[in-house]
Amino acid sequence: YPSDNIRNFSIIAHVDHGKSTLADRLLELTGTIRKGHGQPQYLDKLQVERERGITVKAQTATMFHRHKFLGSDTDFLLNLIDTPGHVDFSYEVSRSLAACQGALLVVDAAQGVQAQTVANFYLAFESNLAIIPVINKIDQPTADPDRVKAQLKSMFDLDPSDALLTSAKTGQGLEQVLPAVIERIPPPPGKSTSPLRMLLLDSYYDEYKGVICHVAVVDGALHKGDKISSAATGQSYEVSDVGILHPELVPTGILLTGQVGFMVSGMRSTKEARVGDTLHHARTVIQPLPGFKPAKHMVFSGLYPADGSDFEALNHAIERLTCNDASVSVTKESSTALGLGFRCGFLGLLHMDVFHQRLEQEHGAHVISTVPTVPYIFEYSDGSKVEVQNPAALPSNPKNRLTACWEPTVIATIIIPSEYVGSVITLCAERRGEQLEYSFIDSQRAFMKYRMPLREIVVDFYNELKSITSGYASFDYEDSEYQSSDLVKLDILLNGQPVDAMATIVHKSKAPRVGRELVEKLKKFIDRQMFEIIIQAAIGTKVIARETLSAMRKNVLAKCYGGDITRKKKLLEKQKEGKKRMKRVGSVDIPQEAFHELLKVS
Ligand code: GTP
Repeated sequence: YPSDNIRNFSIIAHVDHGKSTLADRLLELTGTIRKGHGQPQYLDKLQVERERGITVKAQTATMFHRHKFLGSDTDFLLNLIDTPGHVDFSYEVSRSLAACQGALLVVDAAQGVQAQTVANFYLAFESNLAIIPVINKIDQPTADPDRVKAQLKSMFDLDPSDALLTSAKTGQGLEQVLPAVIERIPPPPGKSTSPLRMLLLDSYYDEYKGVICHVAVVDGALHKGDKISSAATGQSYEVSDVGILHPELVPTGILLTGQVGFMVSGMRSTKEARVGDTLHHARTVIQPLPGFKPAKHMVFSGLYPADGSDFEALNHAIERLTCNDASVSVTKESSTALGLGFRCGFLGLLHMDVFHQRLEQEHGAHVISTVPTVPYIFEYSDGSKVEVQNPAALPSNPKNRLTACWEPTVIATIIIPSEYVGSVITLCAERRGEQLEYSFIDSQRAFMKYRMPLREIVVDFYNELKSITSGYASFDYEDSEYQSSDLVKLDILLNGQPVDAMATIVHKSKAPRVGRELVEKLKKFIDRQMFEIIIQAAIGTKVIARETLSAMRKNVLAKCYGGDITRKKKLLEKQKEGKKRMKRVGSVDIPQEAFHELLKVS
């Protein structure tokens, strides 16, 4: 296929607007997958993705399609690059877009433009992609394509007559999609006569083949047996297999200019396969391709084995999982309360949740996670600055030695039906937000932009936003600069002993309320034990909240009169089961849920 007959495109959309369903239909239309193959949403591979109905990892597939072009029947090779639809993964979106010349912008015909539609549009627009608006779900009774067309015009200056109307469910209008891709998206611009340059799009670990890289060949061609080098590391490799994703791996022995496919090259770990790296033939000199924005870790949390002896098992599980998700950063840490564990950095809260869920589901690990924190910057009196990813790393009486602190902020985009404007403004003010923009995208929907401290959205913001707007709000954010802030470290003490794993950093104005809520939550979730437990929240040496849990002898058999042995056994089993998820801190047993509940206090 000469590059004139190749089209590389993505589908971008707000979550749930039908991107994966549309992708499936296109794969079926081109015979790439069989119709009704019994596995809806072919491109969503991970179990979590299926369960949560969200796309986490971008996947790619090649399709073949014959189309009458410039008067004659021509065969085209179309590379569809699927992108994740959630705020945490805009990094993967921009990575996918770098290999495309165009994008289908899918918008739900009833819901209209939403926050991630806006974010994704701008990512595509900044990458100079040809954008084809697709108004999907026109089969719904509440569909109003004309209203959506007007929104696309007013928000993005997209011509209403360019919009395709489809239903990925009934198949209506789908026949126009691939012709539009071929006619409106330009072919990849690379040169076949130039030395090889290819972009590393993604990588994952396969037990049999080793590291498999997804690549986009920008210039030149890649053959099996080629010796290649990484522009980032200088390491060289021999290509042992190369081919297309159809959507399974189909070896072809070669990838030509403009093609997207896979490559196996004896890399030992996905850490060697740096996403955004330029790969080239060994011993040729090339100008590296512009890379992508590297993954930025916005949320950090400690992960500890729920059962102290399982450290090695957790270590192994994390290693296996990061083979497939190189966007998580992992360093070992130890806590006096929880023992040996890991500090992990995530792209966002959903990313963190997904990582936990995969650790448990796919690797059978039981973990306790500590309150998530954002990366703060503190300045010491000697002028040195440190990034603090773990509140425990901060001295308990920081005011003595710290002269200034900064916290990361984000620019949040919120789209809501106009009747909720008042309550959303109140919520954003409570979360220390600063309004930057407030306008209407049509007569029923408001559009707002806020600068907010990242910390304030990390803790349960999206859930609260959805609940005060009956689920109608849509929300997206991009990271912005650091702002100076009055921060304090809040310690939690059990019987006078600080529990390092429960320390948090909060804005001074919020410390009294957060402290009170934390001790109340803990009192509720810690079972009474054989001695009294005093739970305190403190800033430095100043206690700001206190609860007492009185002593009680807990005996699961107390209610078991008489000699029913099986019932007795069952109860003992149940108690043992419950103990698995306990962590003994000093002399106090704390259930895993207590740690979990602390995550929700903002
Ligand atoms: P993410 O992968 O999470 O970004 O979502 P998505 O945009 O890929 O949405 P997905 O394809 O998973 O579709 C979301 C829901 O909408 C699913 O329940 C689909 O069955 C449904 N859906 C998709 N297309 C249509 C359509 O044309 N009409 C109707 N009525 N429902 C549709």
